[in-house]
Amino acid sequence: MFPLALFTCFLTAHAYIWPSPQLDALEAARFNQNGHNAGGIANFVEPCDVFFTGGINFTGRSNIADWLRTAYHDMATHNVTDGTGGMDASVRFAEEQERPENVGDGIANTIGLLFTITDRYISMADSLTLGPIIAIENCGGPEIAFRGGRLDAGEPNMPGVPEPQQDLETHIASFVRQGFTQTEMIGLVSCGHTIGGVQHDFFPDIVPELNDPNSTESVVHFDSTFVTFDNNLAIEYISGTTHDPLVVGFNDTTNSDKRIFGSDGNVTMGSFAKSRDFFQSTCAGLLARMFNTVPRGVQLTDVVTPLPVKPFNVQLILDRDTLKFSGEVRFWNMSEDASRTVFLLWDDHNGRTHQVSLLFSGVSTAVAGRYTAAWYSFNATADTPFQAIEATAGVTSMRFVVDGRLEDQGGLGFSVQDGVVFSNTSCATSQNPYAGHLEIAVRNGLQPARVYLEQEVLDSVQRITVVDTEITPPAHPPANASSPYAIWSIDLEDAVKSVWYTIGFELDDGAKFSSNDMHRLIDLPPCAS
Ligand code: HEM
Ligand SMILES: *[C@@H]1O[C@H](CO)[C@@H](O)[C@H](O)[C@H]1NC(C)=O
Ligand SMILES: *[C@@H]1O[C@H](CO)[C@@H](O)[C@H](O)[C@H]1NC(C)=O
Ligand SMILES: *[C@@H]1O[C@H](CO)[C@@H](O)[C@H](O)[C@H]1NC(C)=O
Ligand SMILES: *[C@@H]1O[C@H](CO)[C@@H](O)[C@H](O)[C@H]1NC(C)=O
Ligand SMILES: *[C@@H]1O[C@H](CO)[C@@H](O)[C@H](O)[C@H]1NC(C)=O
Ligand SMILES: *[C@@H]1O[C@H](CO)[C@@H](O)[C@H](O)[C@H]1NC(C)=O
Ligand SMILES: *[C@@H]1O[C@H](CO)[C@@H](O)[C@H](O)[C@H]1NC(C)=O
Ligand SMILES: *[C@@H]1O[C@H](CO)[C@@H](O)[C@H](O)[C@H]1NC(C)=O
Ligand SMILES: *[C@@H]1O[C@H](CO)[C@@H](O)[C@H](O)[C@H]1NC(C)=O
Repeated sequence: MFPLALFTCFLTAHAYIWPSPQLDALEAARFNQNGHNAGGIANFVEPCDVFFTGGINFTGRSNIADWLRTAYHDMATHNVTDGTGGMDASVRFAEEQERPENVGDGIANTIGLLFTITDRYISMADSLTLGPIIAIENCGGPEIAFRGGRLDAGEPNMPGVPEPQQDLETHIASFVRQGFTQTEMIGLVSCGHTIGGVQHDFFPDIVPELNDPNSTESVVHFDSTFVTFDNNLAIEYISGTTHDPLVVGFNDTTNSDKRIFGSDGNVTMGSFAKSRDFFQSTCAGLLARMFNTVPRGVQLTDVVTPLPVKPFNVQLILDRDTLKFSGEVRFWNMSEDASRTVFLLWDDHNGRTHQVSLLFSGVSTAVAGRYTAAWYSFNATADTPFQAIEATAGVTSMRFVVDGRLEDQGGLGFSVQDGVVFSNTSCATSQNPYAGHLEIAVRNGLQPARVYLEQEVLDSVQRITVVDTEITPPAHPPANASSPYAIWSIDLEDAVKSVWYTIGFELDDGAKFSSNDMHRLIDLPPCAS
């Protein structure tokens, strides 16, 4: 029997056990924010006071505010009665952006970035959720529970985003349609309008031209700390010192914040002004609900929590009669400590256990530095980038020992799949246009029904889909009968669709598995001519 790992079954629902490609990807995007192996979405929302667009930094505006407003405008089309609309990235469609309710350039600025951080496991709508979550917790706000699994809409939703000139009854009805009570409306608007402001260019009747070198885009801020997620909006509103242009604007018709904030006799705003903690915890709850407002039928994952011990980028590559075994492991809530000892233990098909000591490779941080994680690489020595494992023995499962403490995922171990692996006999015949010969090693005894190349491509509405290309089994019995692997292969010419690829395989019972180590065609060495 083969342990199925690097590859994981898509069909079984279970608690988060590594490996699990979608949860592994969502967890990494959520928690590897800064430092070693980090980046992605966090790069777009840090630092808090930056407004960078079209290659230029502007003053007086911030990218984080655009992310939060864009997410709200995506959600606000939700109809709780028929389950349509919600967080589904439908705001990317030009038809939605052209509506008066979506006026401004902030939505286009944000949407343009989504395409660069989305992959088969992280939809545009998940990215549009992670951006503001990471922004808020890095800019003074609370930690917000994140669930993944949003699906991207195939067409625009019905209109439904509130506008400032609408009356209070319309706003209350609009939030009820979105799934929020009047009190929750006051909360959500306060949680949104604690950052950013209103821009003259798109709201000339609300905000005048400022001619202020500190606000080159003529933005009047909702509160005096417009890049900090805090309760100053409420404090300034209650004390009567607010400059919020939707409260003290000269044209009362567009003073929507004034009508909304005062609609319960200032009770909610009064409690936000009194207690920073109450404001933060209320926003953490309301924003999580806002982000989790999805079209009916969409199944979100459980709240994504950091995996305490998480292997990363584990790869096996067949190199003649050895397997090159490489990767890293991340230990959550752990800082650098030169005296710590970390060992990798792995089991093979012969029932033997091997061990090697791991090298410290860096730290990453998350949630405004509130968490630190220490990373170790499988390298035994700095000049050997992999462990060489006897191919016949293979590898079935891993464990780690940290300062003498065993980390084995509660006794399950970290299962490793060596049934379908890359072979280093793959090569490129041309780099431009790309062409090459890919060889995949299939362990004797596995007998998959299919082995295929998986490439991520965009459909006609920019959603990522995975295209399979069949890999061919060997035509003849293997030349070397004592080798534990048979080579399946494919010639790549027209078949190349994306830079990165993974390998999938399907068993006779229809169960499908997908590798979570990604490879790039351009990294292949030239074929011998
Ligand atoms: C009745 C409901 C609401 C109305 C009428 C409203 C109206 C507005 C207007 C007119 C702007 C200025 C946009 C610009 O200049 O580009 C704005 C900005 C903003 N809104 Fe709202 N809003 C509402 C609710 C919300 C909610 C619920 C959130 C989030 C939870 C939110 C988040 C934001 C943010 C972050 C900005 C600043 C954008 C920036 O500085 O670029 N708004 N809102
Ligand atoms: C914009 O500001 C960021 C953060 O301060 C800085 O890292 C970046 O170099 C600036 N870019 C330009 C083009 O000025
Ligand atoms: C929400 O959906 C219900 C059921 O389809 C419909 O009757 C109602 O008009 C919709 N509300 C809005 C504001 O579109
Ligand atoms: C712009 O900001 C700088 C630094 O905060 C401040 O010294 C200056 O007075 C501001 N200028 C205007 C016109 O508000
Ligand atoms: C106030 O705003 C409303 C809605 O945008 C507009 O119709 C009206 O003309 C404005 N009034 C003044 C005095 O500008
Ligand atoms: C809410 O508080 C503001 C500022 O103190 C005040 O101007 C306003 O009249 C109050 N509104 C209500 C409905 O009490
Ligand atoms: C056949 O495979 C075995 C096991 O991988 C290897 O040791 C041996 O060198 C191979 N023989 C040839 C002729 O390639
Ligand atoms: C992080 O580690 C420290 C010390 O190792 C421990 O006291 C603390 O409870 C841990 N925190 C979390 C959130 O696991
Ligand atoms: C192994 O070490 C080398 C040299 O330090 C490094 O370049 C390589 O990235 C490391 N490999 C892994 C998987 O950590
Ligand atoms: C396979 O790996 C060996 C080192 O183990 C290296 O000498 C050889 O060049 C590699 N072959 C290819 C095609 O990458």
